[in-house]
Amino acid sequence: MKFLVFSDIHSNLEALGAVLSRVRKRKIDAYLFLGDIIGYGANPNEVIEVLGALSNLVSIRGNHDKVVMGIESLEFFNPVAAQAIQWTKQRLNNFSKKFLSSLKKGPLRIKEGICICHGSPQDEDYYIFTPEEAYASLDFSGERICFFGHTHVPVVYEFRTPEAYTVYYPLEEGRTTIKLNPEYKYMINPGSVGQPRDRNPRASYLIFDESKQVVQFYRIPYRIVNARSKILKQGLPPVLGDRLLEGY
Ligand SMILES: [Fe+2]
Repeated sequence: MKFLVFSDIHSNLEALGAVLSRVRKRKIDAYLFLGDIIGYGANPNEVIEVLGALSNLVSIRGNHDKVVMGIESLEFFNPVAAQAIQWTKQRLNNFSKKFLSSLKKGPLRIKEGICICHGSPQDEDYYIFTPEEAYASLDFSGERICFFGHTHVPVVYEFRTPEAYTVYYPLEEGRTTIKLNPEYKYMINPGSVGQPRDRNPRASYLIFDESKQVVQFYRIPYRIVNARSKILKQGLPPVLGDRLLEGY
């Protein structure tokens, strides 16, 4: 099976459109989305409409999706993120509300040996930034491969043992191919579609070819200026548009 694995769109319609048009001709068996559909950007309803039209989508919720639906309070959000949540909340249409409330809490087992989560399998709000955190999370999941999001940074943690590991960072643009070893275990982050934070503004996603055990990361350009000008026009905090230009 071939999986498109993507995360953290954050209401960025331009970035999502660029990713989906890039993969249109590929045979994707399932779209695995790791959470945070909304927040920050100016097109929450439009992004949900596009995702809702994907027949083979498997999606879990992110922390922003959870907060906008009132499942959790805004108290741990910074003021800029909180402002974007309030803005989004006032604009969600009925289809969007229904879609967001249907999202499952991670982790979710896709098939034997493979799971997806937002932050980590133990806690959807937890940030994985180190190999030690990655291994503890993988161990908790009990799976061989776990895809996670939330940090907005693409990375592969490969474990031969808990202590013997390699960390791979994909190239800054184009495609990076990583062959998985069937004996090893992996925590893999596809990066963020709509708000990259690794100082690279290009949209990030990956394709996992399960039969070949190959992960291909992609970094692709999209119309950032359009996404930014909509954010400014809507009166959202300007930093949310500016950061898209730099990828931070
Ligand atoms: Fe996010």
